[in-house]
Amino acid sequence: MSERPVGDDLREAALRLRRAQQVVVFTGAGVSAESGIATFRDEGGFWDRFPPERFAHVPGLLAALRDEPARLAEFFREVVAPIAHAAPNPAHRAIAAFEQAVPVVVVTQNVDGLHQEAGSSHVHEIHGSLLAVRSALGGTAQLTRGDLRATARALEQAGATGSRRRLLWALRRLIGLSHRGTYRPDVVMFGEPLREPDWALARRAVRECDLMLVVGTSGLVMPAAGLPSEARARGARLIFVDPAPPEEPGLWLQGKAGAVLPALLREAFGAEPGGLARFELEGLLEGDKEADRGHVRR
Ligand code: OAD
Repeated sequence: MSERPVGDDLREAALRLRRAQQVVVFTGAGVSAESGIATFRDEGGFWDRFPPERFAHVPGLLAALRDEPARLAEFFREVVAPIAHAAPNPAHRAIAAFEQAVPVVVVTQNVDGLHQEAGSSHVHEIHGSLLAVRSALGGTAQLTRGDLRATARALEQAGATGSRRRLLWALRRLIGLSHRGTYRPDVVMFGEPLREPDWALARRAVRECDLMLVVGTSGLVMPAAGLPSEARARGARLIFVDPAPPEEPGLWLQGKAGAVLPALLREAFGAEPGGLARFELEGLLEGDKEADRGHVRR
């Protein structure tokens, strides 16, 4: 781990980013923290309030429906409401801007859809998405943030009553029975396989990248947490962006993603609005110079 000042580390990271051929940005809850969505394992995080032993798997949720419906309503509201009202923050936008300069694949453990909303075009959601439901027969349907906002409002009203029937009605956009069988959020819970084809595509991207930016993840949940070491084993460089030190060797840019990533973007590509265009223009001129040299040689 580096002990050099942050400025040097930022310059080094920017150099690696400029030289990269294929980048994977691997993100966790920390990248969305500044959009108002709680992380899981930070102090006071989501799992502190809703212990995963009880709330992170289907049998636990069914037990909560039976024994404590008001608490289950609270759980769903805390999952749904922040994502319903969230918008991309400067970290999501910086990641989306990277792809104007270098090929980028985003592999995210988040289910909030904010990378796509920020404009990233290749996003693999390996833990699924709260903006989709899937049926038992395998079909999926998309939801909007408006659907989630309506669900959050209904949960608030249903929660107070403690009625199971009202809770299930409030959840009808996410969970229920239709002509295609039962449906539920297209989100991976504990003990379930990761979403496909996202997981297979994510692993392929990891095998092909020469630089991985790991942003806002504690790196504790397998199998996703194995991706950085897989990239490193295949020769990719790792750069971590997180207030907390990483679990693996690599260059660590300590800080919040919403501050560090825009700074990295500026350092690498001079990118205030228009800066990336300048970067592209320089690339174009460089290409012309190559072509001119080829022309002279011929
Ligand atoms: P965690 O809550 O485990 O880790 C969040 C990470 O974000 C920590 O390393 C924090 O230091 C860091 N962090 C906090 N604020 C940040 C900020 N503003 N900028 C950058 N980093 C920040 O969340 P994940 O690693 O995403 O899975 O958790 C992985 C999986 O565990 C989740 O996808 C979820 C959960 O159980 C499932 O539910 C299947």
